[in-house]
Amino acid sequence: RNRQHQLEMQQLCETFPLFSQVDENSQEELLLLFRPKSASPGERVLRKGDRPDGLYFIASGAVEVELADDNVRLDAGAFFGEMALLSGGRRTADVIAVDFCAFLVLERRDFNVFMSRHPALRKAVSNMARERAEMNVSR
Ligand code: CMP
Repeated sequence: RNRQHQLEMQQLCETFPLFSQVDENSQEELLLLFRPKSASPGERVLRKGDRPDGLYFIASGAVEVELADDNVRLDAGAFFGEMALLSGGRRTADVIAVDFCAFLVLERRDFNVFMSRHPALRKAVSNMARERAEMNVSR
């Protein structure tokens, strides 16, 4: 692999800590599965109650998760949309873009296949979902 490509992968790992959880070949695979998506400030990216379409990684920009009492801001490097994918239920909150955003989306079917092949990654994503759910009940 060329140097340029190596640098790109290294940069992805730096931006997305989750990315470093999988081996190099799987990183390549993941990169091919990602679908680019963008949003403008004020745009609703996820709607509470919807069926989940995928897992969103924030490549640039920021979003706000609208919770009962206040909003949680997520910046570049964070991911969202994992809760409904893991539970098999509906989106638990509205997510609004608060800036021009670029996302990398792992679509539901690809998420399911990739996660079943990468238990460590699944665990990391599940842990985040659990932490967030706990945070939301204690609010
Ligand atoms: P999901 O329920 O699929 O859609 C809404 C998303 O908002 C949810 O997945 C999480 O990714 C995200 N979310 C919910 N609660 C929190 C929280 N307390 N902090 C950060 N993100 C959250």
